[in-house]
Amino acid sequence: MERRLEPELMLDPEQARAYAEADFAEPHERFVDLFAERFPDMVGGAVLDLGCGPGDVSLRLAARYPACVVHGIDGAPAMLAAGETLCRAHPAGPRVQLRLGQLPEVRAPGAPYETIVSNSLLHHLHDPRVLWGVILRDGAPGARVFVMDLCRPETAERVSALVARHAANEPEVLRRDFEDSLYAAFTPEEVRSQLDEAGLEAFQVEQVSDRHLVAWGRL
Ligand SMILES: C[S@@+](CC[C@H](N)C(=O)[O-])C[C@H]1O[C@@H](n2cnc3c(N)ncnc32)[C@H](O)[C@@H]1O
Repeated sequence: MERRLEPELMLDPEQARAYAEADFAEPHERFVDLFAERFPDMVGGAVLDLGCGPGDVSLRLAARYPACVVHGIDGAPAMLAAGETLCRAHPAGPRVQLRLGQLPEVRAPGAPYETIVSNSLLHHLHDPRVLWGVILRDGAPGARVFVMDLCRPETAERVSALVARHAANEPEVLRRDFEDSLYAAFTPEEVRSQLDEAGLEAFQVEQVSDRHLVAWGRL
């Protein structure tokens, strides 16, 4: 099945509100678990979270690693506004800074970073080289890099089945969002090619659930 692009930035306030209010506890806590398994040496320091949205993953990382600060970057004002509210209410919020800016133009304040993460940004990018280029530009030598995203299924029937399985009880705006994202996502083979083209041949790509892949390694 061909990739079908969706808008890069999540600018619609209704979409951003529904996204920020959704319960992503299971995949986002899994994100932190998978990161921790792959980088057992992680203790603290500054972490860059690319396409942070409302910052749920940023906050979960900050909570798991009390010696770290997280800098999140996102180009959607409505997502960041929701994130500011979440950060104010969260015990780890004072160690999370969210900043408005579109990649690749925006520069993160703490570059070069020892750790760069990103969840569900890759499938939004019309040109995936933006993500790998920013990682190479803003990561320190030896930096930990951990990217998680959706995988594009092979058929439209499989897309419908995943939406039914994982988003049946979500509001319509979120179900549509999830479906669009599955069509916009890359296959593990495509991500492998992107990494090889970027010079990140040593990175690994793994499918970790019925809908998620991770790409990770050290710069
Ligand atoms: C599906 S959301 C994921 C948010 C967050 N990482 C999470 O896991 O909840 C994707 C986010 O990437 C942002 N985004 C997409 N393209 C971007 C770009 N070129 N620069 C900055 N942010 C971008 C969107 O605005 C959106 O908030």
